[in-house]
Amino acid sequence: MKLILLGPPGAGKGTQSSVLSRQYKIPHISTGDILRSAVKSGSELGTRAKSYMDKGELVPDDVVIGIVVEALKEDDTKNGYILDGFPRTVKQALSLDEALMKASSGIDLVIYFETSDEVAIERLSGRRVCKKCGFNYHLKNIPPKRPGVCDKCGGELYQRPDDKEETVRNRLKVYKEQTAPLIDYYEKKGALRKVSGNLDVEELFKVLSKMFSAEHLA
Ligand code: AP5
Repeated sequence: MKLILLGPPGAGKGTQSSVLSRQYKIPHISTGDILRSAVKSGSELGTRAKSYMDKGELVPDDVVIGIVVEALKEDDTKNGYILDGFPRTVKQALSLDEALMKASSGIDLVIYFETSDEVAIERLSGRRVCKKCGFNYHLKNIPPKRPGVCDKCGGELYQRPDDKEETVRNRLKVYKEQTAPLIDYYEKKGALRKVSGNLDVEELFKVLSKMFSAEHLA
């Protein structure tokens, strides 16, 4: 199963990707996670990416395209994968098409998480992430058992720097200008399926599971 999850920041793409990756045993490729770990490592890529991410701007296409093209060459992608947060511009989508065509491959579905700004802002302002294992919580919706501590590994929870309100508003603006045109791009290809990103985690997972059965993907 080869999937792209498309939607605004806070739509729940990362959360569903983790659930789907476990359920269907396919890798979750998140450009946001890859870039954040580059920032953490202090690499040249990380330093370059950080200046864009902190402002809520997109990292340049050439950087991100290279990362994904390499990730898709890994053996663990043979049975499928979930692309989360990529592509995010028409240029990225065209490059992905080209790379997949060269590999005689293609995407099965592009799932668009239709989500209101209110829900996205509420989710991002309440998000807390584990410093150690990267698991995502939400102060109200998905709270940890002990405040500030990860249930899974005991790591410390923190707020992503780009989840501050002003940066979130810019991320939503950037999404509308640069990423939302992909809805039309994939709709024209007949690959797009819409789901409500406003649903809770379990409800949305059920909707997706039914969709995969109907599409004969699982
Ligand atoms: P990235 O990490 O991809 O951020 P994003 O797309 O803005 O997505 P988010 O992680 O904010 O939201 P999500 O939809 O995954 O929601 P989540 O499941 O976490 O990118 C960060 C930055 O990296 C970008 O701004 C850019 O600078 C750069 N970048 C990345 N990819 C790039 C690319 N391709 N090109 C250029 N630059 C790129 O959930 C959010 C919160 O809500 C959590 O607290 C969660 O617990 C909660 N939640 C999730 N689902 C539900 C639900 N159904 N009900 C209730 N609560 C929920």
